[in-house]
Amino acid sequence: MPTTVRSHAKINLGLYIGAPRPDGFHALVTVYQTLEMHDLVTVSARHAARTSIRITSNDRRVPTDSRNTAWKMVERGLQLFGVSAEVEIHIEKHLPVQGGLGAGSANAVAALIGLEAELQMSQAGAPELPAPGYRLTASSRRLEISAQVGSDVPLFLIGGTILGLDRGQEVYPLPDIEPVWCVVATPSVGVSTPQAFRDWDAHCAAEGLTQEASAVKLKELSRAYASAFAGNIPKGRQAGSSGVPPHSKTVGGDLAGPLGSALVRTGITSWIANDFERVVFRQHPSLAEIKRLLASSGTPEAALHASLSGSGSALFGLYLTREMAEAACARLQAAGVASTLTRTLPRPKYWGQMLQP
Ligand code: C5P
Repeated sequence: MPTTVRSHAKINLGLYIGAPRPDGFHALVTVYQTLEMHDLVTVSARHAARTSIRITSNDRRVPTDSRNTAWKMVERGLQLFGVSAEVEIHIEKHLPVQGGLGAGSANAVAALIGLEAELQMSQAGAPELPAPGYRLTASSRRLEISAQVGSDVPLFLIGGTILGLDRGQEVYPLPDIEPVWCVVATPSVGVSTPQAFRDWDAHCAAEGLTQEASAVKLKELSRAYASAFAGNIPKGRQAGSSGVPPHSKTVGGDLAGPLGSALVRTGITSWIANDFERVVFRQHPSLAEIKRLLASSGTPEAALHASLSGSGSALFGLYLTREMAEAACARLQAAGVASTLTRTLPRPKYWGQMLQP
């Protein structure tokens, strides 16, 4: 029996980017949030003498060879389990390709979960959360192979509201924000992520933003996020206690306060921003206009928050009521912009839905 797994999208509730690093990546501080909108990934697998992988999709833009993230993940998964198998994966696309919604990365994790269920590997369906105190252990092999496949893949092993650090692959579950309505606008323009990072590098050079200065800024921001989301790191595991990875030092501190309760209650406040907007909106002014339509600032229908997601080109708005979200969809439609009405998806629901289409 094939196994079908929902493969949910993510948005970024703020994304702060550092200056370029010598390894070609950029340090990030971001909060990922999974959404109800999803692709469907169906996996059939049986043990065999030799491994073979076949990918099909209803969308011709999806690569069907080893460039596909699901392929890369299944290859690594089989190596991890120490087995060979004949694997068939069908990706039913509903999410935009290269939209900044992590669709390809989510497909990779869904394929791994489907593979585990098919081969009856013990992990199937079980959320792998970092150990108490958010220490990522060396045994978190699924997190490791996910990080090899892409920086924004590991987040999909956790789901809900997640802090992302380092190049985005270092993930820490945060207390879930209360579910809110979300409108995702999918403009027709495409944005290449590597190009957006190159534009960011030019921006850093022009602004004179050094590695050192950006490291200080990112550290402050990760502290601000930690206090905003409140109470998720046991005291004993904060800075200075043994066995805690260096990044945990930046997510300790005062974990309560009015900002925290506001953020957790409504999900969002106005201080969070996506650095990519600074370079992507310059290249694509139409995207800034779509953000204005989503935000509808100063009106009773104003979004809690509106932003580019990742490097785009998708943008999102978050709303307290369905009516406000529907009004945003109508504004976009009048401007000829496609959109999807969805909701943010908290962790328990994310896991409740993983194995049931
Ligand atoms: O990790 P992933 O394969 O998703 O990254 C794709 C490209 O995006 C990388 O090769 C790199 O150029 C850029 N990137 C980056 N900094 C990050 C994540 C990605 O520069 N934190």
